[in-house]
Amino acid sequence: MAIWVVYESLWGNTAAIARAIAEGIGDEAVAVSTADTDPADATSIRALIAGAPVHGMSLPTSQSLLSAAGKKADESHAAPRVDEPLMRTWLEGLPQLDIPATAFDTRVRGPLGRGAATAIIRAESAKGCTLLAQPKGFRVDFRNAGPDEADLLKDGELAKARAWGQQLATSLAAAAA
Ligand SMILES: Cc1cc2nc3c(=O)[nH]c(=O)nc-3n(C[C@H](O)[C@H](O)[C@H](O)COP(=O)(O)O)c2cc1C
Repeated sequence: MAIWVVYESLWGNTAAIARAIAEGIGDEAVAVSTADTDPADATSIRALIAGAPVHGMSLPTSQSLLSAAGKKADESHAAPRVDEPLMRTWLEGLPQLDIPATAFDTRVRGPLGRGAATAIIRAESAKGCTLLAQPKGFRVDFRNAGPDEADLLKDGELAKARAWGQQLATSLAAAAA
């Protein structure tokens, strides 16, 4: 059974973190965007790891996407992807699930307290999921902004994501034993 690392991502940074987490977990894990996967199909998975960028200290909204869409692509900024389903909408579409789950987000700074990941954990728990691991925040730095996707990530964050994926795989193996 598959493990989904599902992401919402405007500039590709959360997507890159999701791919690194899936790599760390191993062959069973796939990184997929909210556009590429139907939450109704989650009945066939073994675990769920969901991630999104922090917008306004929580999950993105249609309003925050509108504001992001105003940031046009130019030589120093990639165009934001604003046409994919919101993570908050995707989570609402989940059926009741009795599987382990956790969450991650990407953010400029600040404690994890109020962020996208804690909102995702709440939604997963409301669907019956059990907490696999505490949510994790990964850092972006706008001084890195350039024309390419996923260029905001701070140095070392992809390695941290891979290592976190390995820890999740260990926890899943222990839970299955
Ligand atoms: C509308 C908007 C609101 C944001 N609000 C926050 C915020 O409250 N806290 C924060 O740390 N970062 C904030 N950010 C920065 C995002 O977290 C950053 O753009 C994101 O991590 C990039 O990931 P992505 O490429 O996957 O979209 C905001 C960005 C946008 C566009």
